[in-house]
Amino acid sequence: MKAARRLFAAAATAAALMLAGSAGWAAEKPREPESRDWSFSGMFGKYDRAELQRGYLVYKEVCAACHSVEQLAFRNLREIGFSEEEATAIASEFTVRDGPDDSGEYYDREALLSDHLPEPYENENEARAANNGAFPPDLSLIVRSRRGGPDFLYALLAGYEDPPDGLELADGMSYNPYFTGTQIAMPPPLFEDMVEYADGTAASVEQMSSDVAAFLYWAAVPELEDRNRLGLQVMIFLALLTVLFYFVKRRVWRDVH
Ligand code: HEC
Repeated sequence: MKAARRLFAAAATAAALMLAGSAGWAAEKPREPESRDWSFSGMFGKYDRAELQRGYLVYKEVCAACHSVEQLAFRNLREIGFSEEEATAIASEFTVRDGPDDSGEYYDREALLSDHLPEPYENENEARAANNGAFPPDLSLIVRSRRGGPDFLYALLAGYEDPPDGLELADGMSYNPYFTGTQIAMPPPLFEDMVEYADGTAASVEQMSSDVAAFLYWAAVPELEDRNRLGLQVMIFLALLTVLFYFVKRRVWRDVH
């Protein structure tokens, strides 16, 4: 009995310590991202093709060094306004591993429209080894899996700051007030003029953050425009049906006084 009580006390102390520890660690609460005006928000939201193409460029030139977007194939790039030739040309800049061939060998070949965007690392261990032990997550669905979606993404990318006085950053970490715990293993990825936009847009950190956030939103919600269109059609249909019922009712009740 006594042993059991002692065991219980020890467990309770351990739990209290763990709680206290995690509370101390979580004391740095992440900042709420501001909500921004996106072309795709709201019922009539639409994608801005030029913005998505700029976002793809930022992903390709910067983020793709560390992050995959597994779910995207090169052919999907046609949905953001690239022609078949353009998408084929984009794919052909990449090499992918294929095989096995007749003799059982794997070989490298130029990527085709049907290939998915290549991943930067062979496996998770390689990814962690290159990133201070942290794993750069796949970005296909990241806007769906983070509160604030594209607002969060924008704030995270454009929101790096110097750490507040007294905060000791762990080795290889950067301060980002929007990240859970505020210390992030992703160094600030964007610097002014890092990419050169084909449409002449000035590549500020804010611009690139916003473009790549829009691109990743599209990657996660490619059906948005179809869904909005269907929603509108359903509303028009319901409105017409209401009018029709109104006249039917008048007719049916015509002779009742
Ligand atoms: C040098 C490698 C590197 C580059 C380049 C890079 N990232 Fe990261 N990213 C990381 C690592 C590592 C993490 C994991 C951070 C952690 O867990 O502390 C991460 C985490 C993230 C997260 C998840 C944050 C969260 O809430 O969990 C997002 C979103 C993200 N990166 C987006 C991007 C985008 C968009 C770009 C391009 C503009 C980019 N990253 C460029 C290494 C990189």
